[in-house]
Amino acid sequence: MRVLVVGSGAREHAIVRSLTADRDVEAVVVAPGNPGMDAVALCEPLPAGLLDGDGIVALARRHAVDLVVVGPEAPLVAGVADVVRAAGFAVFGPSAAAAMLEGSKAFAKEVMAAADVPTAMAHVCTTLDELREALDALGAPYVVKDDGLAAGKGVVVTSDRDEALAHGRRCLDKMDGRVVVEEYLDGPEVSLFCLCDGRSVIPLAPAQDFKRAYDGDTGPNTGGMGAYSPLDWAPPTMVDELVVRVAQPTVEEMARRGTPFVGVLFIGLALTPRGPRVIEFNARFGDPETQVVLARLKTPLGGLLLSAARGELDGVSPLHWTEQHAVTVVVAAHGYPGTPRTGDPVSGLEAASEVPGASVLHAGTARDHEGLLVSAGGRVLSVVAVGDSLSQARERAYRAVALIELDGSQYRSDIALAAESNELHVG
Ligand code: AMP
Ligand code: GLY
Repeated sequence: MRVLVVGSGAREHAIVRSLTADRDVEAVVVAPGNPGMDAVALCEPLPAGLLDGDGIVALARRHAVDLVVVGPEAPLVAGVADVVRAAGFAVFGPSAAAAMLEGSKAFAKEVMAAADVPTAMAHVCTTLDELREALDALGAPYVVKDDGLAAGKGVVVTSDRDEALAHGRRCLDKMDGRVVVEEYLDGPEVSLFCLCDGRSVIPLAPAQDFKRAYDGDTGPNTGGMGAYSPLDWAPPTMVDELVVRVAQPTVEEMARRGTPFVGVLFIGLALTPRGPRVIEFNARFGDPETQVVLARLKTPLGGLLLSAARGELDGVSPLHWTEQHAVTVVVAAHGYPGTPRTGDPVSGLEAASEVPGASVLHAGTARDHEGLLVSAGGRVLSVVAVGDSLSQARERAYRAVALIELDGSQYRSDIALAAESNELHVG
């Protein structure tokens, strides 16, 4: 099988790496990819950007691929999967209508209500008066969310009413701005990816992400600063329950509406004392969770994604996983999650990759005019390590991170620390 992957982050690098390890995959093409993927697959430029469905179709034709995998949310919400599917290709990734589960938080809430999925109580506001009323009705801590896509940065959680109001006002000021004010959910957060083919659901192993920029879950929200999997502290029945209570009813509701969901239904949830509650849906693999989930998946990825794209997940055998633990630590550029500084030399990757069990996935990297590796985005690298225990995986990941040289870079030093110290409890 020949596969085209769309995207350029460490998530896509992880997907590409798993695809190249699948014996049934003879070629992997990436558009536009990055220097890390260039070493293992053919990278093709996408001059008009990720939303250029026609450009992606042209590449799919030129390379005669059997499957197109769309990584990021922006092209999915913009309907790229529809364009590629209409051209006759099997696509792993939802239609624009189905990707609305991520593209609009208000829409996701409506589907959850219709499917009886447990989630936080919420008010959708379109005026400042409604916003004020919602804040007072739900009380502190305030959770205020931009309705649309915001690269993980549209949410403010605060006990300061003025800050909550100011964020809500900024969201309302956008064109057609809507803001969702939500009940605060208390408890550890989990990310669960479910492969969906429009009808059937296959869950992957759960992971935990670290969204805040700094140690101790402080600082602003980011796209994600690190992750680990599996979650030994989570109830053993959690995944099956989430399929029954959340994923399956959501997929059925989307099918009932005539907009079947094909791709990854990413369930972000909080395990509260009153049970699991959905925080958000995403319509794609998570970044950086994918880096740890795929590091443990032994079932060949290409066949799995093709089965989902073709509506054939019910014929797939149970998935195989390594017993090992995986940890990823994101190395971010100076200034992230604000405006990141770019163009700084990045080195030490080979030494880092020589740490047992460790590998380095690229995100915001580029080659300068001399061919040297430089930073080119906020999240620059994802350093992944597997180990026989969570402690070993952590120790290896951080040993590898310490060998990376990037001026002004930052990373969190407490990824998976609470889990390693047995400090996480449910309810
Ligand atoms: P989202 O973009 O919806 O995933 O939100 C980003 C982050 O904000 C989440 O990972 C949570 O840490 C936090 N958050 C979102 N909604 C809530 C909520 N209802 N209660 C508590 N924290 C939340
Ligand atoms: N790590 C969270 C996300 O991909 O949105």
